[in-house]
Amino acid sequence: MQLSTKHLLGIKDLSPEDISLILETAGQFKEVLQRPVKKVPSLRDVTIVNLFYENSTRTRISFELAEKRLSADTINFSASASSVSKGETLLDTVNNILSMKVDMVVMRHSASGAPHFLAKHIPAAIVNAGDGINEHPTQALLDAYSIKDATGGLEGKKVVLIGDIMHSRVALSNIYLLKKMGAEVMVAGPPTLIPRHIKEALNIEVEYNLKKALEWCDVANVLRIQLERQNQVLFSSLREYNLAYGVSRKLLDGLKKEIVIMHPGPINRGVEIDSDVADSGRSIILQQVENGVAVRMAVLYLLAGKRTA
Ligand code: CP
Repeated sequence: MQLSTKHLLGIKDLSPEDISLILETAGQFKEVLQRPVKKVPSLRDVTIVNLFYENSTRTRISFELAEKRLSADTINFSASASSVSKGETLLDTVNNILSMKVDMVVMRHSASGAPHFLAKHIPAAIVNAGDGINEHPTQALLDAYSIKDATGGLEGKKVVLIGDIMHSRVALSNIYLLKKMGAEVMVAGPPTLIPRHIKEALNIEVEYNLKKALEWCDVANVLRIQLERQNQVLFSSLREYNLAYGVSRKLLDGLKKEIVIMHPGPINRGVEIDSDVADSGRSIILQQVENGVAVRMAVLYLLAGKRTA
């Protein structure tokens, strides 16, 4: 089987069959990652550039590790250490890199749509590693893999995304993916951090009361307040945000059931999530990071197959 698309720009463009194929392939690569020798020769003839115009810890290391486990040749590019600071455009930068015979570009950029722009102008396969407030498709794929792993499936599962929905590319990619795969989706947080017409536009539930949201769900995916993307005051203080919307052990202990706690990272402990929740047995935060390598191996492997097809 093959993906229906040449690039991974967003979950919006994937079919449910594409998503299932990526998750199944990730399962096979997860087995490879349990072996003493964690490397396969699948991408031995492929050169990939990791083009990061914005900070990253997890996504960048995860892609780099996935590429190395697949035996690809990799080049790492940071905007801060490049000629971008001398005024070079995105397209000129990428064309210069491509002239060195690069096959795939993994790209993170603060501008929504930057990877879509590149995909229109260059022949390499593009993987979106997060664009502005638009999408973060591999995060949603690894979140879905982790939910399946923890709960047995996606169909019919009740998943709430909590916090700064307005500025979160993780939220949008998760909503697209979970809806395509038959999960029920809710967003919860202060009204100022939830887009006004999201309920009708994306056919999801909206809840402003955190306790009610937690009572409704099987899985809670807690999101960071994206202060770097907010250009106005949207809540009074981080302390008050924590009191109203921080996921605490007391809140979880008050539920009549166990729920799965997720977070894409980086965590702001004591703001959106308390340490005794993030580090508890209910949390699968580090499993998400572990699963990310297998999921990104699957994405790169399937897109490379598309490239040579
Ligand atoms: N989850 C995530 O995208 O983390 P990084 O910003 O560290 O890559």
